[in-house]
Amino acid sequence: MTERNIRMGLIGAGRIGIVHAGSINDTKGVDLVWICDPMVENAERLAAQYGAKASADPLEMINSGEVDAILIASPTSTHVELLEAGIDAGLHVLCEKPIDLDIARVDALRAKANDVKTKVALGFNRRFHPQFEGIKQRVKAGEIGKLEQLVIISRDPAPASQAYIAVSGGIFRDMTIHDFDMARYFVPEIVEVTAVGANVFSDYIEEEGDYDSVTVTLRGSQGELVTIVNSRHSSYGYDQRLEAFGSEGMLLAKNVTPTTVEHYSAEHTEQREPYLNFFLELYAASYRRELEFFIEAVRTGDMQSPGFEDGRAALILANAANESARTGKSVKVSL
Ligand SMILES: NC(=O)c1ccc[n+]([C@@H]2O[C@H](COP(=O)([O-])OP(=O)(O)OC[C@H]3O[C@@H](n4cnc5c(N)ncnc54)[C@H](O)[C@@H]3O)[C@@H](O)[C@H]2O)c1
Repeated sequence: MTERNIRMGLIGAGRIGIVHAGSINDTKGVDLVWICDPMVENAERLAAQYGAKASADPLEMINSGEVDAILIASPTSTHVELLEAGIDAGLHVLCEKPIDLDIARVDALRAKANDVKTKVALGFNRRFHPQFEGIKQRVKAGEIGKLEQLVIISRDPAPASQAYIAVSGGIFRDMTIHDFDMARYFVPEIVEVTAVGANVFSDYIEEEGDYDSVTVTLRGSQGELVTIVNSRHSSYGYDQRLEAFGSEGMLLAKNVTPTTVEHYSAEHTEQREPYLNFFLELYAASYRRELEFFIEAVRTGDMQSPGFEDGRAALILANAANESARTGKSVKVSL
């Protein structure tokens, strides 16, 4: 007997929702059957593209009995409520990061999220980027001996608008959150956080009481050190690098250009095209792989994706980094 396709509903037809709709459509064994967004014309436009139903109300879909799984790609402030509704309806849930900006709200849902037969996955897509995933596998295989230091560099091409910064929850919870998860992908047990924040180029980010540039040092339980470097701008484009240094060598992921073609002339050598523009371009493949892993988990019960606890741990690290940057002291954490 052939297994029937998993019926998936998408919540949120904005920037990242559009990407996920394409991934669901491209993935074998899953049908995109319903798209919800209070801006119903956005839901309808996307639904028409993929032959799905549209609604303004995600709860109508969640309680319809017509979906097996949902993907939550609505604003962060809606995640906890929709996660809970999905869990209560017995659905599998892939939820965009972060779970919430408030750890108390995350903790209130924790027991329920961890006590379900269905799967709850978190959208830390960078774990599925071929370069970072490849390095992780090679570290695990012992290729560089014992991991001693990890360096994560993450700089955006340009800062988001002041309106976005105002409600973002601050750089640690909005931007560094991905890097905290990347750190835990390699070093799951983090015990101490030290962070420094600065305002070096943006007046409006400073006006919002936020930093535009930060560095974070994490200490792992086995003595590993992780350094994260973030900036809200980068004159040469999206800067995403990772270095894993161990007792027997180093693995290094550099930035990605559209092709490997280099130009040589009297003025310069080894000149390449600009880096891939931003996250939608660089991480396109990782959003698809994230979805494939989630569908595989739903089918087999074998959960390889980051889950609720990973989302909670990243938020705890973000809060600790914020405290450290504000107080000038290192902060001990227990994840
Ligand atoms: N993993 C990643 O790389 C990544 C990238 C971008 C955004 N995100 C996350 O995805 C989420 C959405 O971000 P975005 O940039 O797509 O935002 P967006 O503003 O572009 O889109 C959000 C959409 O959700 C809709 N919406 C609002 N309230 C809703 C509700 N209650 N139910 C259903 N839909 C609702 C809005 O009308 C809008 O169309 C955020 O949590 C963000 O942190 C993750």
